[in-house]
Amino acid sequence: MNILYAASEAMPYVKSGGLGDVAGSLPLELTKIKGNKVCVILPYYGDIKNNNELNIEYVASFSVPLAWRNVYAGLFKAVHKNTGVGKNKREDLIYYFIDNDYYFAASGYGYYNDGERFAFFSKAVLEAIPFMDFSPDIIHCNDWQTGFIPLFLKAHYQSQGLYGNAKTMLTIHNIEYQGKANPDFKDEVLGVGDEWTNIITFDGCVNALKTGIVLCDKITTVSKTYSHEICHAYFAHGLENILRENSYKLTGVVNGIDDKLYNPKTDNVIKEKFSPSDLSGKDACKKHLQEKLGLEVNPDIPVVAMISRLVSHKGLDLVEYVAHELVNLGIELVVLGTGEKKYEDLFNFMAYSYPGKVSSNITFSSSLAKEIYSGSDFFLMPSKSEPCGLSQLIAMRYASIPIVRETGGLVDTVPPINPETVDGAGFTFKGYNAHDMLGAVSRAVDFYRYDKDKLKAIKKKISSYDLGWKTSAQKYMDIYSSI
Ligand code: GLC
Repeated sequence: MNILYAASEAMPYVKSGGLGDVAGSLPLELTKIKGNKVCVILPYYGDIKNNNELNIEYVASFSVPLAWRNVYAGLFKAVHKNTGVGKNKREDLIYYFIDNDYYFAASGYGYYNDGERFAFFSKAVLEAIPFMDFSPDIIHCNDWQTGFIPLFLKAHYQSQGLYGNAKTMLTIHNIEYQGKANPDFKDEVLGVGDEWTNIITFDGCVNALKTGIVLCDKITTVSKTYSHEICHAYFAHGLENILRENSYKLTGVVNGIDDKLYNPKTDNVIKEKFSPSDLSGKDACKKHLQEKLGLEVNPDIPVVAMISRLVSHKGLDLVEYVAHELVNLGIELVVLGTGEKKYEDLFNFMAYSYPGKVSSNITFSSSLAKEIYSGSDFFLMPSKSEPCGLSQLIAMRYASIPIVRETGGLVDTVPPINPETVDGAGFTFKGYNAHDMLGAVSRAVDFYRYDKDKLKAIKKKISSYDLGWKTSAQKYMDIYSSI
């Protein structure tokens, strides 16, 4: 099958969040399936374009009609060669980039003209296809930034008999971000006829995500539980009825992680390598982390880690509410991340108030993150909503036991520990309530103190889980095939 994977970010080129990780690892897994050809297409952001170390070549240029404008687009390409032999042999993975300095000199999102930037990208993806010597069976769209692709395909291309066989899939990584614009966006930017007005509009705005939801052939979300949650008002940010009407084409497929990048057996970043069958290296990692971060070096104190964007919906308001009680459970708390100033200030204040007990790292560092995953006993993720979540998966891989709120992908990936049988993978709580969270951490701490053997059995078990993409990539294949 020929799969064109369209995204606004993908590793190893650009990442602002979990989408970058998923778009960086799922397409590669898809290339391993026999008969697949996979191309990823991204905006050619300034940060990528100006990086001379990347091996990116020019392919073509063409113009993209956007309502009354005709806009330049360049197409560039990077081939990630297949170097595997024997059963590791697979097709090359090809990255395409859409160039236009006016729209993409600045990387990422958050600009006044984001709507126009990604409407342009969506249309340019379709205009680029004739230059790819590849005709997609599936165009796999991701989030609102690519939500107009099914619209343009139906309104302009397939109606002219082009790309006849191409079907579209839209993956929702987070329904909170929808890409809304004023109604005049239709004539100013999209340039589609009035017969599309009702489809592209929701609640008085043009809405890119809603457009994609209604017009694509299949919708997926990044976990099963989230696919049910978004049919309800509490989670749907207004789109619950739209989702319910389209639930016949909605499925949840849980994310995997890059299990080569995150592998304590081979990881050169962490202090000592370890594996499920021999976790002794993890003790050295913990000691190293305690030393490095100025915490009391003591194997008997449980280290609880948080690696997160420091924003309320990640559950930071719960942590703020019981911060002192949390530390007074007798833990060491390690935080890594950036975000809202009040949370950055909170953790700096906690580190100042509890020297040797709290370590506040207000920064973004993938190597420190790995040292924290490998050196911590528990990983706290009290999200208000969590479409999938990747950090809890990485934590498990590094034998750090998750403590999570039961929402979205956290439900699907972290079943609660049964203290009798040692079934399950983490400590969980249901209500979005600070003391319920505190209770879960307190249970984890007791377990750490009084059930050392069981704790070890759980660490062994979760670090041996298969958290790679293989199973989920096959599920995507089944959905692709069904359309
Ligand atoms: C978004 C979601 C996160 C998910 C990621 C990748 O960032 O908030 O839960 O894991 O996308 O799908």
